[in-house]
Amino acid sequence: MTSHRSHWHILGAGAIGSLWASYAVKHDLPTTLLLRSDERLSQFKMAGGILATLAGSAELLPLAAESCEQNGPPIARLLLTTKAPDSSSAVASISPRLASGACVVLLQNGLGVREELLKLRPDLQCYHAVTTEGAFRPAPFQVVHAGRGRTLLGGGSNDKALARELSVGPLVVTPDPNIEQALWRKLIINCAINPLTALYRCRNGELLDNPQALQQLHGVIDEALCLAPHLQLGDVFDGLREQVLDVVANTALNRSSMLQDIESGRRSEIDYITGYLCRVAEQHGIAIPINRQLLEQLKALPGQ
Ligand SMILES: NC(=O)c1ccc[n+]([C@@H]2O[C@H](COP(=O)([O-])OP(=O)(O)OC[C@H]3O[C@@H](n4cnc5c(N)ncnc54)[C@H](OP(=O)(O)O)[C@@H]3O)[C@@H](O)[C@H]2O)c1
Repeated sequence: MTSHRSHWHILGAGAIGSLWASYAVKHDLPTTLLLRSDERLSQFKMAGGILATLAGSAELLPLAAESCEQNGPPIARLLLTTKAPDSSSAVASISPRLASGACVVLLQNGLGVREELLKLRPDLQCYHAVTTEGAFRPAPFQVVHAGRGRTLLGGGSNDKALARELSVGPLVVTPDPNIEQALWRKLIINCAINPLTALYRCRNGELLDNPQALQQLHGVIDEALCLAPHLQLGDVFDGLREQVLDVVANTALNRSSMLQDIESGRRSEIDYITGYLCRVAEQHGIAIPINRQLLEQLKALPGQ
């Protein structure tokens, strides 16, 4: 049945990109990983593919891969799994290969990348996906599927077909005609948890034991709730505070990706999380000083 399935390219061979690529190859979805350079491609070939631990045991999967530095066949379907700040430069590097009107599914945290891509290539059909799957990369070209979750996809007229194509094995993708709401909920949850864990260098659950951090966490949510009526997203923020506290409790031992980025001096996704919220608030003339202060504090850290 493979002949009926579209070919997907995956840009961003980190934890999430390798996770999708690994299940894709095991479930006959034709897929090619796009690596940033010829050098990365030779390292990938030396490694023999992706060492994937999907259900406890590790197996080496010899996936197809190409370099962004080389020309190749046109790309009609792109799953974008780079971190938000790397996305537009990564897409620019393969732009000559992207077919006119290509479908690009943004599978990332944060908001604002879609706007950047459409400035670069107004013809692209951009979709958003929001996932609670958990994966990490113990070393280059290795991936561990650490937590099962769910994935929603929407943003255009073809979301049902794209969701079906990207559902591989246990990675179930559900079309969501209200993806904007899911994106905003995830954005606010990220705004409430990630910058504070990075600032206080703590695990998610430790925010509840730190009175100052907890006060700021509630402040971030209060400000998001003030912005809510201006966003015309319906009742999307109902129960948000409870949901944020649930996420903190359920992920108490996790070290957020923003904390990990800050600790290793990598650029974090703050501009696409708190930064995005601050830009939207400014457009609506709403002051959100707690979020703005967090943005400034995070941006002042080394590597940001
Ligand atoms: N990991 C999770 O469990 C999880 C869950 C939900 C959402 N997310 C979101 O998913 C997104 C990806 O996260 P991740 O954990 O997979 O990050 P990651 O492991 O850091 O992977 C990002 C990948 O992008 C690649 N990349 C960066 N710039 C590139 C370029 N110009 N050309 C080609 N490739 C490039 C990197 O390549 P190099 O290896 O060459 O540096 C890296 O392999 C983020 O927005 C994250 O917040 C992650």
